[in-house]
Amino acid sequence: MMTAKTVICPPDSVKGMTVLNRDAFNMKILIPSLILPSENTYNIRKKLKKSQVKLPNVKGVLDFPVDDEKHKTHKLFLLDPCRFSSLKDFDDHDLESLQRYGVDLKSFNFHELEMKYENWSANEILRAVLPDEIDNVSGFSIIGHIAHFNLKADAMKYKSLIGQVVLDKNSTVKTVVNKLNTIDNEFRNFEMELLAGENNFIAQVKENGCTFEFDFSKVYWNSRLATEHQRVVAFLSEGSVLYDIFAGVGPFAIPAAKKNATVLANDLNPNSVESMKKNIPLNKIKSSITCYNLDGRNFIKTILKPDLVSRWEHQKYTDTSSPIYIVMNLPAIAVQFLDVFPALCSDVDNSLRMSKWTSEPIVFCYCFSKSEAVTEDAKHQVTKVLGVPEEALPGLNVRHVRNVAPNKEMLCVNFTLSKDILFGKVTRKSEHEENDEPESKRLKTS
Ligand SMILES: C[S@@+](CC[C@H](N)C(=O)[O-])C[C@H]1O[C@@H](n2cnc3c(N)ncnc32)[C@H](O)[C@@H]1O
Repeated sequence: MMTAKTVICPPDSVKGMTVLNRDAFNMKILIPSLILPSENTYNIRKKLKKSQVKLPNVKGVLDFPVDDEKHKTHKLFLLDPCRFSSLKDFDDHDLESLQRYGVDLKSFNFHELEMKYENWSANEILRAVLPDEIDNVSGFSIIGHIAHFNLKADAMKYKSLIGQVVLDKNSTVKTVVNKLNTIDNEFRNFEMELLAGENNFIAQVKENGCTFEFDFSKVYWNSRLATEHQRVVAFLSEGSVLYDIFAGVGPFAIPAAKKNATVLANDLNPNSVESMKKNIPLNKIKSSITCYNLDGRNFIKTILKPDLVSRWEHQKYTDTSSPIYIVMNLPAIAVQFLDVFPALCSDVDNSLRMSKWTSEPIVFCYCFSKSEAVTEDAKHQVTKVLGVPEEALPGLNVRHVRNVAPNKEMLCVNFTLSKDILFGKVTRKSEHEENDEPESKRLKTS
């Protein structure tokens, strides 16, 4: 039996358990308590708010059994065992006000409480079961009804138990999975194994006022990007155009279309495109959104380019302009796709370049950096592939998105893709020249 004023935790005997035995968590503990007249329950409760026991499924105030004649007009107030072992543990002010409700030495007691699996939190259970050297198993992400772990090798022996505990302790979780690979495959999805619960990977999540449904085992989804999605979508409004080259299941594209922007969204993964298409009616979107299942480079050449040119023609002939955005969220390699843009429109009527109405696309290109100078590194990645100096990219700006691993940052490089670059009027510099020549001399507009 445990003594009072201690950190309470499950019995030592559960350490190293690999098959969950819920009964092994039963134990008796002594909880410091106050026996006080029922008539003051409301006021005493208020006074004891911060001092009460806080354990899952344990009430702070208990009734005595009906056949307990001695206490039939009293209640038992359970105190936090980590803070109290006697009345002296109350500060003077609190004790003085409690004394007005009959608290004295006689009212202080220890109550024997039967603890069960239900009374321990998931953290307490896992900390008690797993060897001390295994840490961080409490860190999992929730995607709809799916909890997903990235367990290290030393925790694998306990994977089924971990899955079952998380399932038991989180009412919205119905499926617990573990990622099997790092996210380095083409479609950026995870291979995963089921640890506990239903074998159902079709998740439904809400983000930025939209609903997304997808098979989490087949597509990319990262809830940590919600703020980033929202930040970019905030730029878009009715009349603006979005080319989303690596669209996934549509976390930029769907909310943008919901704001009545015109959206052309592409992804190489057919499962992503299928989900994105289903997410259109799911969000009651009526405006123009078209989905493509192409390689990004192919999409830029065969869809983005002709669409952009026809928009320019419309802008020129109607003397109207509207903002155009290009989003490239494939941080590992998106920058490499920028090489398609220089001179992409070199065969297009030059009057479209000269027109003041034709809009220059604003690019949000994501990348990773492991450099100590992440901003400079991100700018360099982009200017190197485009073959232009920084001065050729109006509005060039780098924003930190998130830390993805120790010493690895995700960044968003923002810039205006000028018509001069698209029409091939800024001369690309060779590697040799780029390294040797001062940046200020590299821009040549013909
Ligand atoms: C990091 S995810 C981003 C998805 C989505 N934009 C988001 O923010 O959640 C990158 C996406 O690029 C897609 N992808 C990978 N290679 C591609 C390529 N060569 N062309 C087009 N899409 C590609 C993947 O299938 C994946 O859905």
